[in-house]
Amino acid sequence: MKTQVGIIGGGPSGLLLSQLLHLQGIDTIILEQRSREYVLGRIRAGVLEQGFADLMREAQCGERMDSEGEIHDGFYIAHDGIKDRVDLHGLTNGNSVVVYGQTELTRDLYEAREKAGGIVIHNAEDVKPHDITSDAPYLTYRSGDEIKRVDCDYIVGADGFHGVSRKSIPRDKIQEFERVYPFGWLGVLSRTKPVSPELIYAKHERGFALCSLRSQVLSRYYIQVPLTDSVEDWSDDAFWAELKARLPEDVANEMTTGPSIEKSIAPLRSFVAEPMRYGNMFLAGDAAHIVPPTGARGLNSAASDIYYLYHAMLDHYKKGDDKGLEDYSAKALARVWKGQRFSWWMTTLLHSFPDNSDFDNHLQQTDLEYLFSSESAQKSLAENYVGLPF
Ligand code: APR
Ligand code: PHB
Repeated sequence: MKTQVGIIGGGPSGLLLSQLLHLQGIDTIILEQRSREYVLGRIRAGVLEQGFADLMREAQCGERMDSEGEIHDGFYIAHDGIKDRVDLHGLTNGNSVVVYGQTELTRDLYEAREKAGGIVIHNAEDVKPHDITSDAPYLTYRSGDEIKRVDCDYIVGADGFHGVSRKSIPRDKIQEFERVYPFGWLGVLSRTKPVSPELIYAKHERGFALCSLRSQVLSRYYIQVPLTDSVEDWSDDAFWAELKARLPEDVANEMTTGPSIEKSIAPLRSFVAEPMRYGNMFLAGDAAHIVPPTGARGLNSAASDIYYLYHAMLDHYKKGDDKGLEDYSAKALARVWKGQRFSWWMTTLLHSFPDNSDFDNHLQQTDLEYLFSSESAQKSLAENYVGLPF
């Protein structure tokens, strides 16, 4: 097979880029190691910046997001038994975020690719990029007993943190930056009415908690747990009791509990790989960077990668101008690192760190007090949360 852009990974990054390029007549093939059902079975975050939402609309995939997603003009930070509201709309001259599950967004992208006759090869095993630094790179993958080949002009590694693309770059050609946090998030999905119409991030001495949602009948909750915990350690009752213990009393009293339909623990890490290009292979999304979910930057960091790569590919194929491709890594990393900073800052602000000194804890409390005593501090939080410009 031959295509113009060979994409490894059929998650949101790969699918969105493929759909955007398709609409401009640029051919892609996506090699996805899992089945479509498996990919759609992943429960992921649900807060989209306007930039991501706009890209979905440009990709002609925004209809269900616009009809079923919720526009949120603010969120709460609960602390010391109260909750303070961050007025995103007022602090950013009218900007907001869209709450719409990544699972649904990925489903919309798959349906768009299918409708357009896009080639997404599932269960593509042992995908490997070859001749990455040549002008004729190619991909191979195993289908049953057969090794198949996809010749392309460019390869995009959109295969997530555990993918093959980043690991195919020689160690001396890539630098990795990482911070692993000493806790994880235990997440629960339940068919219950969300406790609050807007998200509540809670800082508590027992640990962080987050009240989020997918719709008015589907709630998503998280609590910070030690890395030594496993899902088996947490019955539904234990989860609900601990979540309530970390929330202001008036919120806890309003909580509708119910059976978990999904329960999992995710570790938290900050990670960036530089550069995001090697030869004619470009890294995008989780393949190049990971953030702790506290700042809801995960998918939104991928959005700017896709935006830059999409326009760079357009300039190459339509105008013969390669400046976008040459500038891609530096440009993408500049925004990625701002998302890293914000995610690290919100994580540090709101979580309990077992090894914190008394000084650290006092500083953390002061950071929170400063935030709610300063409109400038809240403006900074708000502009990062709704998304810095591409
Ligand atoms: N070969 C082919 N496909 C692969 C390989 C491989 N070797 N390794 C991983 N994949 C696939 C995965 O199965 C997955 O479907 O690549 C896809 C990567 O998708 P994501 O991990 O969702 O990454 P991305 O598309 O960049 O989306 C980022 O996902 O993890 C969240 O918080 C993150 O919201 C952000 C979003
Ligand atoms: C979610 O709804 O899953 C969610 C929302 C906001 C976050 C993290 C996760 O910061």
